[in-house]
Amino acid sequence: MTELEALNNRHSVRSYRNRRIERETLDRLKAFLEECNQKGSIRLELAEDAGATFSRFFHKGNGLSTAPSAIICIGPDDETLEERIGYYGEKAVLFAQQLGLNTCWVGMFQAKGVPVAVRNGERLVLVIALGYGNDSGRSRKSKTAEQVSCSDTDAPEWFRYGVELALKAPTAMNQQKFEFRYLSDGTVSAKAFFGPFSKVDLGIVKYHFDLGRAAFGQKESFFS
Ligand SMILES: Cc1cc2nc3c(=O)[nH]c(=O)nc-3n(C[C@H](O)[C@H](O)[C@H](O)COP(=O)(O)O)c2cc1C
Repeated sequence: MTELEALNNRHSVRSYRNRRIERETLDRLKAFLEECNQKGSIRLELAEDAGATFSRFFHKGNGLSTAPSAIICIGPDDETLEERIGYYGEKAVLFAQQLGLNTCWVGMFQAKGVPVAVRNGERLVLVIALGYGNDSGRSRKSKTAEQVSCSDTDAPEWFRYGVELALKAPTAMNQQKFEFRYLSDGTVSAKAFFGPFSKVDLGIVKYHFDLGRAAFGQKESFFS
């Protein structure tokens, strides 16, 4: 499965099979997370056992307490941390999908139950549920390209494709509170509007957008 196929197949999954992830798959994901951490100056930690990250009480209704594993998203507490977590975390989500796993970004979790220590100067931003889903999730409503993008001059095909892929990205409560703008000098700006975790969302949609423009041979990207 290519990364673009993974992007198109991915949906949030909240109900997981009682099946551990095999050693080899965990090792591949771990190595991938290490690369993301280096590039993004963040700390995405694979918790093979999610511990009490997902509360039996609070997450019972939506099933998340069945997730066997998690990616814990931590980093140095600076201005762009949430965006970097979104960008590289989504890269990891798509890699996990390529490995046959399912995921769900989770902003509402039990910080006390997370099995990874947060060091001085760091912040625990959120977590990603990980495991083999009982199903592969389902498609949901989406805003239109017109609602989330604009251009100062005629936008090229790669911009439109980038926006199309951004609309397939997960956002907190499916809020899709972002905007891409094609500027007259041929560059792109992106911003988040006010909303819970909208800065993480911005990083996530920027990653999807970058995959779209890269498919058209564009070299620019929001992060390295
Ligand atoms: C930053 C962020 C936080 C999220 N937090 C939660 C959460 O706490 N609980 C939950 O069930 N889903 C959570 N989600 C999943 C979204 O509800 C989901 O991505 C959205 O409804 C779009 O659906 P899709 O991922 O299937 O495309 C979160 C997603 C993101 C990106």
